[in-house]
Amino acid sequence: MVEKDERKPVLKSEMAPSNSTIMFLSYCFLLVFIVAGKRSAIERSEAKADAIAHHYQTVKLSSFLSSSICRPSTKRDKKYGSLKVVHKHGPCSKFSKNIIKPITMEEILTHDQSRFDAIKSRLTTTTTTRKKDIKTSMATMPATSGNLFNSGNYIVTIGMGTPKKDLSLIMDTGSDLTWTQCQPCSGSCYSQQDPMFSPSLSTTYSNISCTSTECSLLPSATGNLPGCRSLTCVYGIQYGDGSYSVGEFAKEKLTLSKNEEFDNFMFGCGQTNEGDYGTATGLLGLGSGKLSIVSQTANKYGKVFSYCLPSTDSGSGYLTFGKSGISRNVKYTPLLTSLGSSTFFNVKLVSMTIGNTRIAMRSSMIMDSGTVITRLPPKAYLALRNTFRAEMTRYPLTKPLSILDTCYDLSNHTDVRMPTISMGFGQNVNVGIQPQGALIATSREKMCLAFTGNDDDSEPSIYGNVQQMTTQIVYDMAEGKLGFSPQGCE
Ligand SMILES: *[C@@H]1O[C@H](CO)[C@@H](O)[C@H](O)[C@H]1NC(C)=O
Ligand SMILES: *[C@@H]1O[C@H](CO)[C@@H](O)[C@H](O)[C@H]1NC(C)=O
Repeated sequence: MVEKDERKPVLKSEMAPSNSTIMFLSYCFLLVFIVAGKRSAIERSEAKADAIAHHYQTVKLSSFLSSSICRPSTKRDKKYGSLKVVHKHGPCSKFSKNIIKPITMEEILTHDQSRFDAIKSRLTTTTTTRKKDIKTSMATMPATSGNLFNSGNYIVTIGMGTPKKDLSLIMDTGSDLTWTQCQPCSGSCYSQQDPMFSPSLSTTYSNISCTSTECSLLPSATGNLPGCRSLTCVYGIQYGDGSYSVGEFAKEKLTLSKNEEFDNFMFGCGQTNEGDYGTATGLLGLGSGKLSIVSQTANKYGKVFSYCLPSTDSGSGYLTFGKSGISRNVKYTPLLTSLGSSTFFNVKLVSMTIGNTRIAMRSSMIMDSGTVITRLPPKAYLALRNTFRAEMTRYPLTKPLSILDTCYDLSNHTDVRMPTISMGFGQNVNVGIQPQGALIATSREKMCLAFTGNDDDSEPSIYGNVQQMTTQIVYDMAEGKLGFSPQGCE
């Protein structure tokens, strides 16, 4: 176990050692020895205490398979600043009955890989090469089908315009710009089930001019320079897998709930939208950049929001703006300054514990509501996987499922005895992962460890939404911290 200086960025290139660095390294080596000695004493006493605690759990297999009954939690619905969150394909989605072909787990995992690639490219492409003008970047977009939002995602409903129209949007902490499909769809729109938003029917809609300072905020939110059409600012955003939205950048009245209204909310009124977003009419940008809904409502909510994603796909969770409803048990870890993009929320991952084995790790990790499966650095994943496998030898391994390489055939069982898994973040914040966040199932014949390894250390680690389920997660941008509280949907 080697702990390095916490303030150094994780993604850095190797340098050839000079004499002074060798001296410095030997000094560090000594320091590590001293610290490690102290630490192992602490760990021994921790291990003693742990031996009494429960490291294993026996869980009914039926609890891993998705239910067809909606069991919403109603407690939070009427709270101040609170919106109900439902899984896009779950039984609580008002649209789910209309989905003709349900999405398979393989498809979800394929889409998850696309989202990962998109996040990776936003982090690694330098700012100057990234900000292409809209025409060039839209023309060179890959013509692949499918998209990163048609997967394990969560939907909230907000009100837009006067009179107010309800819009079902995908909540996304990985982007800043909020957009929705707009009439008259002068380019093209995908089919949606809510009525399409029509700016001409709203008395509070206004265009943003190309020369305004608002228009100049677009590049950092979208990665594209804005366009200009009859003096109106035009945005364009693409998501790496062929899906995109282009349209007028505009201001409109936003309504979250009664008495919670925001004039002049900046959003994208999408005239050309491509991708199969299924039931959603657009996207709610919860990122940390200036155009996100969090930044735009800062006066009222102080740049704080929290959510709880419901367990499996049957319940409903919530998204709450402001400090209302934050659990007293919440534990905070510092948010790190992000590398490469102002949008993402980064924290420091220091360990994982599987059963009674603690694995030290050192990685910055993006908290993302839209990525499904947690991604770890290759060595960290290997250690997790090998430890997990060693604890699960009584069950037969079966073929991998897409990006998941540790799958079991549990067809001869009605329950599974598995080690508990928890993640350790900076400042001693330990977050337990519920069983349904550790194993995901297509059937009893295939239940897989719901983590995956990156190809190399330069790729970002991401905390996915399967692992986030049932935890209240608090994003406090004002104080630069991220909080976790177990059993957060209750
Ligand atoms: C906004 O701009 C578009 C395109 O320039 C124009 O067609 C539309 O009438 C404008 N809407 C308002 C409310 O000014
Ligand atoms: C289930 O049990 C049967 C009978 O003992 C055995 O032949 C089979 O291999 C088992 N299957 C699995 C996947 O464990």
